[in-house]
This record gives sequence, C-alpha cells and structure tokens, in this order.
Amino acid sequence: MQGNREEFSSRLGFLLAATGSAVGLGNVWGFPTNTADNGGAAFVAVYFVLAFALAYPALMAELVIGRHTRANICTALQQISPPGTGRKMAGFAGFYAIIVASAILVFYTLVAGWMLAWLIAAVCTAIGLGDMATWFASSSLWRDILCAGIFAVFTVAVVSSGVHHGIERWSSRLLPSLLALLLALIAYVLFQPGALEGLRVYLVPDLSRLLEPQLLVSAMGQAFFSLSLGVGTMLVYGSYLSKDENLPAIGAMVTAVDCLVAFLAGLLIIPAMFVAQQLGITIYAGDALIAGPDLIFQVLPALFESMGLAGIVIAIAFFALMSMAALTSSISILEVPVALAVEKTPFTRPRASWMIGSAIFVGTVLVSVFFDRLFGWVVTVTTQYSQPLMGIALCLFAGWAMNRNQLLAEIRSGYDNVENSVFWKIWPFYVRLICPLLIAATFIQSVFL
Ligand code: TRP
Repeated sequence: MQGNREEFSSRLGFLLAATGSAVGLGNVWGFPTNTADNGGAAFVAVYFVLAFALAYPALMAELVIGRHTRANICTALQQISPPGTGRKMAGFAGFYAIIVASAILVFYTLVAGWMLAWLIAAVCTAIGLGDMATWFASSSLWRDILCAGIFAVFTVAVVSSGVHHGIERWSSRLLPSLLALLLALIAYVLFQPGALEGLRVYLVPDLSRLLEPQLLVSAMGQAFFSLSLGVGTMLVYGSYLSKDENLPAIGAMVTAVDCLVAFLAGLLIIPAMFVAQQLGITIYAGDALIAGPDLIFQVLPALFESMGLAGIVIAIAFFALMSMAALTSSISILEVPVALAVEKTPFTRPRASWMIGSAIFVGTVLVSVFFDRLFGWVVTVTTQYSQPLMGIALCLFAGWAMNRNQLLAEIRSGYDNVENSVFWKIWPFYVRLICPLLIAATFIQSVFL
C-alpha cells in the first residue's frame, strides 16, 4: 500500500487543493456573517491574529503527522503512539475524528445544496423558465434533497477519481475560477451607491468590542472551521505531500490565502448589504446586521432582483462562486473516511467513495427531514465541541507522541536549515503547551458563555 500511495503532483497542486479545502462556505458566508455579528473590523483583526497564533500551529501539527505517517488519521495516530493502551486510545481518537468529519459533511452537503438550488434558479431566470426558477428559489424538502443529492454526486465523483486525477485536478480548476469571480463581483459592488458606507462598517473597528469573550470564541471557531482543522482533513492532505516540500512555508501560505479570501468575501458581502439598504431592503434586525441564512437567501437575492439584467448575471456568478467554494471543501472532507476505507479494507477507491458518500447522504436526508431538531444540534456538536477538542488532541499528539528528533527530521525534509529558523525555536514548545492551553481556555469560555 505504502509503495504506490498517491501524491500531489506539485507544490502548486497541493496548495490549490489545501487552500481549496480551507476556502469554502466558511469563508464566503461564515466569515462575513460573523464579522457582521461581532462589530465589524474588530472581529477581522482578532480573527487574523488567532488564525496565525492558534490555527496555524494546529495546522502544522496535522501536516507534520500526516506527512510523517503517510496514512489516514486512524492509522497515523496509532503509528506515532506507544504500543498498548496509548495506541488503542489513538485509534479511538482517529475514528472519532472520522465520524466528526462525516457529520460535518452531512450538514455541509445540505447547505451546499441550497447554493446549488439558487444557482439553478438564477440560470432558470436567465433563460426564461420563471416557474422553475421560483421552485428552486423556494425552500422545500424535495428541493433540498434533490440539490443536496446533486451536490453529493459531484463530491463523490471527484473523490472517487483519486488524489491526482480527482481532488488535485478539480481544485486546480475551481479555486482560480472562484477567485476571479470574487474579484469581479467586488469590483462591481464597490462602485454601487451605498458601498462606501459598508466599507466603513467593515474596516473601521469598534474597539470597545475587541476584548469581548464572545468575539474571541466566535473568532476561534471560525478559524478552526475555515482552516478545516481537527478532523484530519489537513492531516490526510499532508499525507499525500512530497517529502521535498517545506512544510512551515506551505502551511503559512495556506493560512494566508485562506485569510485573504475570507477578507475579500467580507469586502463583497458587507458593502453589498449597504447597497441593498440604499435600494430600500432591510439589512438590520434590531440594531445588528442581518446574518445567517436570511443574509444569503433574502437580502442578497432581493439586491440581485432590484438590479435588473445585471442582477441576473451577478446572481449566477455569486451562487456559482458559492457552489465551487463548497465543492473544493466537501471533497476534502469526504477524503477523510475514504482514505481510511481504501487503506484498511479491500474496497477500491471508487467503491469506497460511493458507499461512504451514500451513507453520508442518508444523514443529509435525515437532517433535512428533521431540520428543526437536528440541524443546529449537528452543527454545534461538530464545530463548537468536537473540532476544538480534537484540535487540542492533535496538537498533543504532534507535541508529545512524536519526539523532538522525529519532528525535526520530518520538518527538515524539504527545509534544510530548519534548526536555525524562528519556526523551530517556537513551534515545538508552542504546540506542546501553549496552543492546547489557549484552545482549551477559549473552548471553556464557549461552553460557559
Ligand atoms: N474549511 C471549509 C470552509 O471554510 C470547510 C471544511 C473543509 C471543513 N474541511 C473541513 C470544516 C474540516 C471543518 C472540518 O467552508
């Protein structure tokens, strides 16, 4: 198995796939929404600090473990743990991460299906199929199941084609297209009346909110979700990375691009809300900006509609952007369980992908049917509880289960002079103690807030 394990074909291929995983609905929707919720630029500032101070070291832990062990998260954690109880617990932690990843994909598929539904609706409007457009733009159980199903088929199709021909190829196509669309949309929106007011809200910080505990907790949750941490996504992508690559540099690039795209998405969404306000659309609920689903599925569509012909083109571009961002992320989540199945069972990759993809889709259908009871619960258990806890566990695995020599050897491969770098002076200690403690402190606050 080890001998013919696939690898990303180049540094760029890996970068596009890993940033494709990181850049998703979390950036384009979650980040602007959280920003609107938490006092604008104050949140943006705290977010960037946390992304580099907390999320980047944790991302490095995943990349190092992944590339060192060249295996799925279960096998990887077992490999680096001492035999006996430690190894059993490691296997259990790995398996838990895989379950969490699958549960994240359950709700991610549903939300991605909504984006696809609105994309289809916009295309139907453009070609004059008004009734169909209305059906796709109105929420209903059948619409949700149909569109989530289409999205799930795309996700499985990419993953079943393998790391190189599937994941890398599609990430390389979709991520640049997404960036181009994002820039084009920003350029358009910033010239509309009202946009400057939005820019002010987005970029001028309300410093009084800077140290609010809620802001800190939201920023950490957002950073962990956005960098795809705590469930083994980055670990498994790292396991397909060549030994010639400089891990700290590559991890920093992924973090930077992820932050940049989140920032750009805010530059689009927040000003767009104020453009909408100029057109008479309500953008405040009480004294807070509207966030959550109402922002994406009411405020923005109302804005597009009031823009006439240009609005149709922009709606297509916007929901295409959302769908592409979602797809490059969902494939990385599906890869977590699929990697385990391919390495541990006799199933071929296509068969494992279709089977696991179908099981997850059954979960998505259940969550759509019992939406009120299940959706919020699944999101909270996975993203608010499990991701930080597994984030702590993965830092501890990298910091304590791997010894200093193993870490050094792994990072040195691709980065000759690492002993003298600032990274090596700080990170090993940081990932052992500081990072787990900081995540734990924020996590405890989030539970008791
Ligand atoms: N980071 C992606 C986003 O921002 C979603 C994602 C991909 C993810 N892989 C993950 C989230 C693993 C949590 C865990 O949309």
